[in-house]
Amino acid sequence: MSENLLEVTGLQKHFPITKGLFKRQVGAVRAVDGIDLNVQAGETLGLVGESGCGKSTAGRLFTRILEPTGGKIVFEGEDISRKSVTQMRPLRRDVQMIFQDPYSSLNPRHTVGSIISAPLQIQNIPTPQGLKKAVQELLELVGLNPEHYNRYPHEFSGGQRQRIGIARALALRPKLIVADEPVSALDVSIQAQVVNLLEDLQSEFDLTYVFIAHDLSVVRHISDRVAVMYLGKVMEIAHRDDLYKNPRHPYTVALMSAVPVPDPVRRDRGQRNRVLLTGDVPSPINPPSGCRFRTRCWKAQDICATEEPPLVTRLDDPDSHLTACHFPVVDDEAVAGRTPAETPA
Ligand SMILES: Nc1ncnc2c1ncn2[C@@H]1O[C@H](COP(=O)(O)OP(=O)(O)O)[C@@H](O)[C@H]1O
Ligand code: SF4
Ligand SMILES: [Mg+2]
Repeated sequence: MSENLLEVTGLQKHFPITKGLFKRQVGAVRAVDGIDLNVQAGETLGLVGESGCGKSTAGRLFTRILEPTGGKIVFEGEDISRKSVTQMRPLRRDVQMIFQDPYSSLNPRHTVGSIISAPLQIQNIPTPQGLKKAVQELLELVGLNPEHYNRYPHEFSGGQRQRIGIARALALRPKLIVADEPVSALDVSIQAQVVNLLEDLQSEFDLTYVFIAHDLSVVRHISDRVAVMYLGKVMEIAHRDDLYKNPRHPYTVALMSAVPVPDPVRRDRGQRNRVLLTGDVPSPINPPSGCRFRTRCWKAQDICATEEPPLVTRLDDPDSHLTACHFPVVDDEAVAGRTPAETPA
């Protein structure tokens, strides 16, 4: 039985839209609009959804880089939703982030040594054998040459730069790492190496991960559970194998259809029954009424426009496979070739 490291309830982040000289608020971007989830100690929770669905905002809320508009974030039993920057300082050691683009998050004028040692200095962490040794150990841990501590970020490849970002995140020996699309900018051949490194580090240091990606195939290998986000909400959350074998939310099925799987034997439901995900994600300023996915859903009916489906477990599956849908996709359902255009909501 694992305990929750992170518990999130009703979490919201609305970015105000202001107008005119007096910055009158005329609306809000509802980037994260009420999500509930938990992350157990030692697990990897994959967080997936198309671009603009609120994944990065959610990650920044979990690590309290952003302040939530509403809802609650509990880390190790402590409510951190309203903590100030100063109150958050001790917690910064426990919670770290890795970003998609290591180049823009690494200062090009600083050596790798000073980049990686910065968190240690800011937090006043004692390094009995000296800062240089601490940095070299970290470089070695992430598979870089410890002699390269004096080099600059531009002297490294994309994959190596992401390793530097990982070393920096690891410096304080955090408990939770939120990795925001850490491999999305890397060549496919390099992606697996970085994912493997993250997995090795997880077992070595008992790390807990929230691993964000826009593509279901990227998180499949590393995740214990996967949460699928759409327009600021969690649409489906389940153990990895449950989700990939039996996706129930039409959005998950559609996302899976977009993932090419070379081996026909291993094809999952989304692969067997291809669904075309047409159109763009609607604006989070004015999301559709009822179910937010209804404007793109081939199963939508009248009730979908009026009643928002809650995230509920189906009775035949008590083991926390949650789906926010009035008409979840059932086993062997034929969904091939259906698009929203053929069955208007
Ligand atoms: N600082 C901000 N101010 C206003 N809108 C923002 C801000 N950050 C993100 N958004 C908006 O919030 C929505 C979710 O963005 P984001 O969390 O980056 O999504 P994702 O990471 O899934 O692509 C988008 O519509 C984005 O434009
Ligand atoms: S609630 Fe309705 S519109 Fe939303 S995903 Fe389910 S069937 Fe589609
Ligand atoms: Mg993002």
